[in-house]
Amino acid sequence: MERTNRVADHVVLGPAPEVEEVCIYLDGKPIPAKKGEPVMSALVAAGVTVFRHTAKGSPRRMFCGIGRCTDCVMKVDGVPGVRTCVTRVRDGMRVERQEGKGSWAEEAADGKA
Ligand code: FES
Repeated sequence: MERTNRVADHVVLGPAPEVEEVCIYLDGKPIPAKKGEPVMSALVAAGVTVFRHTAKGSPRRMFCGIGRCTDCVMKVDGVPGVRTCVTRVRDGMRVERQEGKGSWAEEAADGKA
C-alpha cells in the first residue's frame, strides 16, 4: 500500500474516490492533485506547510481539517476565505495564500469575474 500524506477518508467529506489526476495552481505553481479530494490534502501531499498568514503575520496551516477553525482559508479562484479542508479539487483551480482576511480579485471587484 502506497503511503502518502493524502487524506484517504475525510471525516466530513468521506472516503476519497478513485479519480483522475488533475492539476491545481498554488500561487501560480502547478501542483498535482486528485479530482475531488480536499484542496488541503493536495497541498499537504505536495509539501505545503503554510496556507495563509494572519493579520499579524503568523503562519497558519491545516489544523482541524473539518471546516471549523479557519486556519486553512485561502483565496480560491479569486474568492478569499475559502476553507480548503472542505473544498474539493477541480482541475485548474487557482489557489493563493492570503494575508489576513484576504481580498477579492480585481476582476471580481470590477464585476468582471
Ligand atoms: S483546517 Fe480548520 S477550517 Fe480547515
